[in-house]
Amino acid sequence: MRRKHLVGVGVVIFLTWNLLMYYMLVSKNPGKIGGVSVKDQLRNLQGDIERQLSHNSELLQQLQKLDEEIRRTTTPRPIRAEDTIIPILLIACDRTTVSRSLDLLIKYNPNKKRFPIIVSQDCGHKPTADVIQRYVGEYGIQHIKHPNTSEIPLPWPQKKFQGYYKLSRHYKWALNQVFHTFNYSAVIIVEDDLDISPDFYEYFSATFPVLHQDPSLWCVSAWNDNGKVGMVSEEADLLYRTDFFPGLGWMMERSMWIEIGPKWPEAFWDDWMRHPDQRKGRACIRPEICRTSTFGKKGVSKGLFYEKHLKFIKLNDKFVPFTKTDLSYLSKEKYDPYFAKLVDNTPEVSVAEAMSGRRSNMKALKILYSTKEEFKSTAKKLGIMDDFKAGVPRVAYKGVVSFMYKGQRIYLTPPPNWTGYDVKWS
Ligand SMILES: *[C@@H]1O[C@H](CO)[C@@H](O)[C@H](O)[C@H]1NC(C)=O
Ligand SMILES: *[C@@H]1O[C@H](CO)[C@@H](O)[C@H](O)[C@H]1NC(C)=O
Ligand SMILES: *[C@@H]1O[C@H](CO)[C@@H](O)[C@H](O)[C@H]1NC(C)=O
Repeated sequence: MRRKHLVGVGVVIFLTWNLLMYYMLVSKNPGKIGGVSVKDQLRNLQGDIERQLSHNSELLQQLQKLDEEIRRTTTPRPIRAEDTIIPILLIACDRTTVSRSLDLLIKYNPNKKRFPIIVSQDCGHKPTADVIQRYVGEYGIQHIKHPNTSEIPLPWPQKKFQGYYKLSRHYKWALNQVFHTFNYSAVIIVEDDLDISPDFYEYFSATFPVLHQDPSLWCVSAWNDNGKVGMVSEEADLLYRTDFFPGLGWMMERSMWIEIGPKWPEAFWDDWMRHPDQRKGRACIRPEICRTSTFGKKGVSKGLFYEKHLKFIKLNDKFVPFTKTDLSYLSKEKYDPYFAKLVDNTPEVSVAEAMSGRRSNMKALKILYSTKEEFKSTAKKLGIMDDFKAGVPRVAYKGVVSFMYKGQRIYLTPPPNWTGYDVKWS
């Protein structure tokens, strides 16, 4: 914006100068006709114009220099992945099993200067604090404590959601510490019931430059909501863009916190993130095979969900050297045409046909859905998540949900006339 403005002002000055000179030349010469020959007048005029031209070209050069100068100072230099310090923020409360998360975060950490670990503890639970404190002495992690553990006064119907309110308040405080007190430029957020994969750091390290350079991305997540054993392929290096905010081990930049921090909600922060007012059409990067999995049952939301779903999630166990691969294909300009073509070129079948196995010779199949009911019924039959948040099915990109069914890639896809998510789908 600023650069365009400055160049605009330059051009206006340049044009005004030319106009003024022209006006002066014209007004200088007409009076002089008596005495001086037309030939002399012409010669003078020619001289004037030549001087003027050379002056103009100097001006033009100065303008170009100015333009280059502005370009140099306002374009962000490409960040080398190794340059940015990305702290791990571990959100803890009253589970002493936080040590299990910490052990893996420490075990796989390739460089504790680049990936410092900060445990933010709410709830003031002494036994948990003692566990965390051990790691401060032994491994130099940082232990910060949420100062406000007061009960949040809630009217009766919301009282049972106290845990969600406290969690949201804690997140807000902890993220403000990371970005406004410690001034980091990005963060990876995990909770105290997560295991991580051996290439957890490698994954975030390699995707950071992609996130940084593509304004249509707002997070990188370690999570695939349909990442159950048997529903993912063996391609550990496979990554996607998704319109669904997955959470569960995720990275964002400081600029994002500056945008959403001030309006952070009192509760249910993850669903709030998924609302179009926050997401603003932006996508996250997510893997085919999860880089985190949760081991905890006790938690504000996870009891039943754990038994039914979370415990079947496959945690990646291979190390993919992501930082040595080219991930630029994940940028919107490259990914969108590639993904559209991929889905377009996939043969379309009915759910029954896909389930029958008659087309199992094909690498991939496409199943269309036009209504919410169609989506849900197909999702149930094929065993994937069937819910929506703000109208977006889990893992969807441009409405397309990609998963494996009996060893075959399936794209559950909206019709070609699809125009976007319908927030009324829930
Ligand atoms: C603690 O949190 C409560 C509710 O979120 C808030 O009303 C109160 O002002 C906070 N206290 C401090 C000291 O920040
Ligand atoms: C963080 O930045 C703010 C202003 O941007 C500054 O006042 C503060 O001292 C910085 N803190 C650290 C720890 O660098
Ligand atoms: C899109 O196409 C489907 C059939 O494929 C049709 O049922 C639906 O009405 C169409 N929607 C719009 C908005 O044109």
